[in-house]
Amino acid sequence: MCGIVGYVGSQSAVPVLVEGLSRLEYRGYDSAGIAVLSAKGTRVFRKVGRVRDLEASLPGRIAGKVGIGHTRWATHGPATQDNAHPQTSADGRVSVVHNGIIDNASSLRERLAAQGVKFTSDTDTEVIAHLVAGSEAGTLEGAVLDALSRITGTYAIAVIDERRPDRIVAARNGSPLILGVGDREMFVASDLAALVRHTTSVVHLDDGELATVTSSEFRTFSRDEENTAKSPTSIDLETDDVGLDGHQHYMHSEILEQPTSVERMLRGRLDDRFGTARLDGLNLGPRQLRGFRRVKILGCGSAYYAGQIGAAMIEELARIPADAEPASEFRYRNPIIEPDTLYVAVSQSGETADTAFAVREVKRKGGQVIGLVNVVGSAIARESDGGIYLHAGPEIAVASTKALTHMAIGFAMLALSLGRVRDLSISDGQRIIAGLRSLPGQILQIADDEPHIAEVARDLAAAPSLFFIGRVRGFPVAREGAQKFKEVSYRHAEAYQASELKHGPLALIDESLPTVAIVPDDELTERNLASMQQIAARGGRLVAITHPGVAVGALAAASITVPKNEPELDPILLTIPLQLMAYHAALSLGHDIDKPRNLAKSVTVE
Ligand code: F6R
Repeated sequence: MCGIVGYVGSQSAVPVLVEGLSRLEYRGYDSAGIAVLSAKGTRVFRKVGRVRDLEASLPGRIAGKVGIGHTRWATHGPATQDNAHPQTSADGRVSVVHNGIIDNASSLRERLAAQGVKFTSDTDTEVIAHLVAGSEAGTLEGAVLDALSRITGTYAIAVIDERRPDRIVAARNGSPLILGVGDREMFVASDLAALVRHTTSVVHLDDGELATVTSSEFRTFSRDEENTAKSPTSIDLETDDVGLDGHQHYMHSEILEQPTSVERMLRGRLDDRFGTARLDGLNLGPRQLRGFRRVKILGCGSAYYAGQIGAAMIEELARIPADAEPASEFRYRNPIIEPDTLYVAVSQSGETADTAFAVREVKRKGGQVIGLVNVVGSAIARESDGGIYLHAGPEIAVASTKALTHMAIGFAMLALSLGRVRDLSISDGQRIIAGLRSLPGQILQIADDEPHIAEVARDLAAAPSLFFIGRVRGFPVAREGAQKFKEVSYRHAEAYQASELKHGPLALIDESLPTVAIVPDDELTERNLASMQQIAARGGRLVAITHPGVAVGALAAASITVPKNEPELDPILLTIPLQLMAYHAALSLGHDIDKPRNLAKSVTVE
């Protein structure tokens, strides 16, 4: 994996492929490559490093109007030129780009090697190129089907063949793939971002589906070669939506965009009169909402932490037992699926393999799943029974920020809907609605404090290791704070329940290990201050993320004060300075903030 782009049309393919790949850079990658069909055969160019390094290495003019390109995030074999995609057959006739993982690659390699095939890379993808080239089927589509019948695993692939120079054959199973329909040109991409400059007319491939694209038409079909007759849908994405908007990094732009994006998310979804949320996409009436006895939230990484914030909101506002669980673990423990549990899959990309597998596990066992998803039309959105779109707009930085805020707000709205068909009073519903409406203005106030937050962050960046602590509502905030900090600053940051410190981790506290403490003004303030005392008494340095009027006083070396909202919604605002803190720590350390090492934007492999 990581990004795929393909072009067939009347333009020269190389600039289209290079531009498409640069739009996919945000997903994180370590090498890039393209293959173009020209009159002289297939020309393949690959490079370790950035797309701009690949571009700089290309010869002046490469004729050819059909080609495929890829950014690779190493899974099988290190990041080398030989392991970069496209991978080609031994005679160079067939070229393949691939996202996903072929599970039986090693046994297929052994078998092919026994037949005399010489491998030039460590990748699982090369197997596909050899299988396609070795097929005796009379068409490229038939050869790809032959190859796919022999492999198991996940993939999105795009294949070109010198014998069929008018087309790309693409296939999807577990990794996203989209066709872009243009005027006498067609595109293949793993992500809408690669298409936005060219077309807004797209076809989402489903798992198990294949496609042939030529400059004039596309055809989608199943593995049984039945046409699946898809019509293009129109996407609402402007090229400018994915610009930097004057910021040095997408992460910064996305943090500061939140007042606007949150306002957009809330528009038309709050019902002041009845103190509830209007969530038509849930596809659940009041009777069904009332029937749920439990809520189980499934997400990965930061989406899981947003799910923990959401579970607390649901328990507090709707008084239904709710918990969040890492989707990556869920299916491996043969989970018990209950008919009166509402399962909620939460994902920015909507393509995270672990979360998608969890959705399938629930559905296979007859459970009901809704999605809290940002990317419209993504796999999780399509496979869920209903859901709440996050409307955060495209998120480019690998470290998720605005999408998480939107997830937490989505959970608040879900909690309102579940609460108002139970015991949540109309006035409490209206109180939460007023709190939600205050969020954009309050986020702006936090942004105004950025110079102070940056100063605190630079100081923290000097420490090799940090604790983030919080209690109950504040604990997922601490977890997300630590996650963001470690992702972009590469510092060791560990989150702990403040209450658990004295049961072990306190042994680590000394002047070299700072602690960021989440200290909201709520019923637990005194307990949180007591935890801070325990740290201060052992020489530990403290930074408090707190509310006006909380007496952190001399306990903290620095404090960042966040506007107070309703207690249930406070975690949303307490998280935002932690986003800015992580950003400024990474900035002071000179890291590649939007593309942190070893990480990819959407993790479409297990
Ligand atoms: C953290 C981060 C990851 C993602 C996780 C889930 O900043 O980006 O932890 O939150 O990989 O991704 P989605 O939300 O796309 O399912």
